[in-house]
Amino acid sequence: MIPKQTIDEIFDAAIIEDVVGEFVPLKKRGANYLGNCPFHNEKTPSFTVSPAKGIYKCFGCGKAGNSVNFVMEHEHYSYPEALRFLAGKYSIEIEEEELTDDQKEAADERESLYIVSNYAANYFKKQLLESNEGKAIGLSYFLERGFREDIIEKFQLGYNPDGWTAFTDEAEKAGHNLKYLDKSGLTIVKGDKKFDRFKGRVMFPIHNLSGRVLGFGGRILKSTDKAAKYLNSPESEIYHKSKVLYGIFTAKKAITQEDICYLVEGYTDVISLYQSGVENVVSSSGTSLTEGQIRLIRRFTPNITILYDGDAAGLKASFRGIDMILQEGMNVRVVLFPEGEDPDSYAKSHTTEELKDYITTKAQDFIRFKTSVLIKDVGNDPIKKAELIKDIVASIAIIPDQIKRSVYTKECSSLLDIPEQALINETNNILRKNIAKQTKKSSSQFQHQEQEIPDDLFLPEEFQGQKEEKGSGDLQHWEKEIIRLLVSFGDQTIHVELTNEQDEKVKEEVSAAVYMIDNIIGDGIFFENKTYQKVFDFYNEKLKNDQLPSHQDFINNTDQEISQFVIGIFSTQHELSPNWEKHKIFTITEDQQLTLAVERTTLSFKLSKVEVLILEKQEEIKIEKSYDKQLELMKEEKAFQKIKIQLAAKLGRIILR
Ligand code: CTP
Ligand code: MN
Repeated sequence: MIPKQTIDEIFDAAIIEDVVGEFVPLKKRGANYLGNCPFHNEKTPSFTVSPAKGIYKCFGCGKAGNSVNFVMEHEHYSYPEALRFLAGKYSIEIEEEELTDDQKEAADERESLYIVSNYAANYFKKQLLESNEGKAIGLSYFLERGFREDIIEKFQLGYNPDGWTAFTDEAEKAGHNLKYLDKSGLTIVKGDKKFDRFKGRVMFPIHNLSGRVLGFGGRILKSTDKAAKYLNSPESEIYHKSKVLYGIFTAKKAITQEDICYLVEGYTDVISLYQSGVENVVSSSGTSLTEGQIRLIRRFTPNITILYDGDAAGLKASFRGIDMILQEGMNVRVVLFPEGEDPDSYAKSHTTEELKDYITTKAQDFIRFKTSVLIKDVGNDPIKKAELIKDIVASIAIIPDQIKRSVYTKECSSLLDIPEQALINETNNILRKNIAKQTKKSSSQFQHQEQEIPDDLFLPEEFQGQKEEKGSGDLQHWEKEIIRLLVSFGDQTIHVELTNEQDEKVKEEVSAAVYMIDNIIGDGIFFENKTYQKVFDFYNEKLKNDQLPSHQDFINNTDQEISQFVIGIFSTQHELSPNWEKHKIFTITEDQQLTLAVERTTLSFKLSKVEVLILEKQEEIKIEKSYDKQLELMKEEKAFQKIKIQLAAKLGRIILR
């Protein structure tokens, strides 16, 4: 358990644009920030962050929340995990109790996998740096390869000893369940036999965006072995290869800063380039590039440069990756390294200057690259040349942006000496075919198209467009409206007509909250919706202590039910006190407008509540057998009917005035 006080401290410290900004590049836009939504696939940004409210909201997919919610959603953390993550970020100490065996068992599977992976990374690191075997075999290998010690530390490199069960034994001794060692792939369990998957290998932990260990790559050291040079963790609940990039944690900041991401083939390429000062580098390590990986990069930059060691097989395989990148609307360039060199070896044998110079000056756009690779097979063969052209045009047709397409078409035309119009015609042919295919695929997949952010989206619901007024029968609606007004405008002053003790009508100035709460409590009304009741009670408690709760009190409420609900309300309002003049919606003043809304809503709420009570009474009357009791109930019903008429009359006056 994290103490409540610490939770409050964490909520206070968390700065929403800071927290979100760690995962999503944000651009300032007025008082808010704007970025591409990390929760759904989009090319034009509809994900907004409001520093004032401390919340994020996506207008494409509707996801919204506070800092803690964001971390939970984005990193798939539980509530306490998210709090721990933020505590770490803001250097807030949590008095953490050792987990008991029961608690370990209870932690869900994903969490257990994270814990086991983190334990393993630390164990491997300790072995590498402190054990004799690790130092003699693992560390000396890394040092021989030229990795600096700070880099070994940075990438959390490690070593798994060569005994069959060195790691597994130690992990079990430390209380880790074999089930999770097995699921994480660190231990291979066969019947009652078990052994370390990575025995005798140097270890490369694979991190997610926030630096948590998801899995490992392990490299064998003896070249004589028939065993694979690299072994990788299997897929697990936390390690989804197609969505992970090796190095993304160490690279993400530099990718945003440089607005470009370098893509290499291997673990060692990432590390060597990083050591040489090129930090914006990632690798798909062990899988061919996937859409998920490209989208991960696209959240930070639209520019990818692929760094290839020039072996022929690899080159043609790269075409698929290039097309995938183009399809995502990104810009792709390719750098080829000289025969026999890869980014790792090149970085080792050159200065940082030379390396940076090489990868910037040698970068070719995909057309030049593809042409230069394919042209070698063409010679003077016109048929082969035609194939080459079709091949390149097919790539151009994939690009979603029309202007980019025409730029590349021009380049292709001059490079291959083909009339531009011929290329345009061919491109259009392909496009038409693709469109036909897509429409067949049914539109359902594409329903989440990016949308414009409507200007009035943040206005209170009743002023968004011409929404029809809800009938008084809708109790749920009015309950929600009461809570929305309370939370959004409760602290503002309204002027209402009240009846004083002498039965005189007087104009009084009260806060909207006091007016609503007094009215509702005075009539002994409860909310049917439990969450609303909670919010209402929370507000009332504060009032009792002469405090007016702030918006942050709700947004960062430690009761998830309250914060989630309130965030939902806030994220559909542009301004908490809208500037009506500007929007030219009403000609009366804001104050009058609010007074009207509060009075009307309170009356409507009561009215719908009474209507429900009347219906309930009528039901009771129907099933009541005793005549006397029936009469009793009918009297009560009459009383409610009377209240209903009074309320309706008042409501009518307020509406008419
Ligand atoms: N790889 C793999 N399994 C193998 C070989 C390679 O998963 N049996 C993956 C690894 O992610 C590796 C990448 O493919 O990093 C590139 O392979 P390679 O160029 O052979 O490895 P390097 O990273 O260059 O490693 P080293 O320099 O240590 O040989
Ligand atoms: Mn290599």
